[in-house]
Amino acid sequence: MSTSLRLENLFPTEQNIPAVYQYGAPVHQTEYLINGEIRHWDGPVQEILSPVCINSSSGIQQKSLGTTPLLTQKEAMEALDAAYKAYGNGTGVWPMMSTEGRILAMEKFVTLMKAERDAVVKTLMWEIGKNIKDSEKEFDRTVEYIIDTIEAYKKIDRDSAHYDFEQGIIGKIRRCPLGVVLCMGPFNYPLNETFTTLIPALIMGNTVVFKPAKIGVLLHRPLLKAFQQAFPAGVVNIVFGRGRETVGPLMSTGKINVLAFIGTSKSANILKVQHPKPNRLRSVLALEAKNPAIVLNHADLDLAVKECILGTLSYNGQRCTALKILFIHKNVVDTFNKKYVEALQQLKWGMPWEDGVQITPLPEPEKPGFLNDLIEDALSKGAHVLNDGGGSMHHTFYAPAAVYPVTKEMKLYHEEQFGPVVPIVAFNTTEEVIDYMVESNYGQQVSIFGTDKEDMAKLIDKMVNQVCRVNINSQCQRSPDVFPFNGRKDSGEGTLSVSDALRTFSIRAMVAAKENGVNKVMLTDIIKERRSNFMSTDFIL
Ligand code: G3H
Repeated sequence: MSTSLRLENLFPTEQNIPAVYQYGAPVHQTEYLINGEIRHWDGPVQEILSPVCINSSSGIQQKSLGTTPLLTQKEAMEALDAAYKAYGNGTGVWPMMSTEGRILAMEKFVTLMKAERDAVVKTLMWEIGKNIKDSEKEFDRTVEYIIDTIEAYKKIDRDSAHYDFEQGIIGKIRRCPLGVVLCMGPFNYPLNETFTTLIPALIMGNTVVFKPAKIGVLLHRPLLKAFQQAFPAGVVNIVFGRGRETVGPLMSTGKINVLAFIGTSKSANILKVQHPKPNRLRSVLALEAKNPAIVLNHADLDLAVKECILGTLSYNGQRCTALKILFIHKNVVDTFNKKYVEALQQLKWGMPWEDGVQITPLPEPEKPGFLNDLIEDALSKGAHVLNDGGGSMHHTFYAPAAVYPVTKEMKLYHEEQFGPVVPIVAFNTTEEVIDYMVESNYGQQVSIFGTDKEDMAKLIDKMVNQVCRVNINSQCQRSPDVFPFNGRKDSGEGTLSVSDALRTFSIRAMVAAKENGVNKVMLTDIIKERRSNFMSTDFIL
């Protein structure tokens, strides 16, 4: 089928959408959560448009999903005050609560959350255009993450049940919360990535102000009640609106102790410098990346193509871990390109609910124009689009494009595209790729494809000092969530994994006593009479 015909038939009429996936009437959200109250907003709102367009008698138009509140600085400050009060400088109910108490609250939350699966998954699919299978996976993976976090928290607690005896000092060490956490997630994993900071922050006893990203907002609405019912008032506060008006002023109060932000380094830097006491601020950041695949001349090309297709174009390339540039050895580049383009042409374009669909419309309104600029820049400097119809636009849809040969002079070589455009570079020696990584602003992951153990070993040893994860004969990815997820340079700050995140959102505190008779009797009584949560020797099963 020709590209123009494929594009013409892309968007459905309302009647063509299977009943089970229909969105229904627009949702006009008025609710937000502050200090344990679900409050209602009657001020200005933001319209939420789906990347999915509907074909009707009046033309092709983005489906309106409803509206969300555009809160102001006043409501954001109220949210911060509630979180600050609930933390109570570490003396609030939540930071002082026993391990069992916080686990019970989290278990209640996850039970309530699971009941909202259908509503969250459907809204996620419509709001960000992620295919249904991956939208379901995002929800289920998040539930699993919470359950694993509870287990990891129990383990930390068990490991802290004992006392240490060193040089005549009795020591009791536990991890304690840091304070008020400002949480902001990205549009591409609006549930999962946000919760990978929100959940560990909460379970460690911090209180939270959470503001969803500009895109991927409505999906949080069904969870407001779950947060309200599971946690004490003020522990979780959720505000909606423009970042500049809401979060900027929060940072400048100096009352935020942790900035948990997933987005661009530019935005992270703007937020960080607004904090008046930088030493009091801990930052947990997952930012841009430009992960390369390096295909060596002895690579299994069929395997490399399969993994590079997944790595470059899963969810249209809108993953921070996506392969964003392919370095192919000059001896195999022609064969690789041929195989890659064949596989690319097989990818199914369509609507997110369609079976087996891989390429879907893009949620960011400015993205197609941005991708076009990158391609035009590359074409003007000698590159070509390898696949027929690559780079064609149709409303919110952007046909994936493989661009070759990409060189240093082109924007596509350096800039993170975060979309379905795939730059391919031919290289002579691995030194060229190592130089690329050294000069790059980013350092998240790399994929290396090859079969020669000596070459592979040499490259592995060089790459581990440039990035934080080297993937052998497979695409880059974050999972399994128990492995560390982090980045060098402008790709991130701090490490997130189920257990690392618990450390990131807490600090070790210690009680020390000279090992003498009086202290021993007193500490024994405190433990036996269960007078202190911190000093407890309880072992949670
Ligand atoms: O966008 C960044 C995500 O954390 C990537 O996760 O590699 O599992 O898709 P993933």
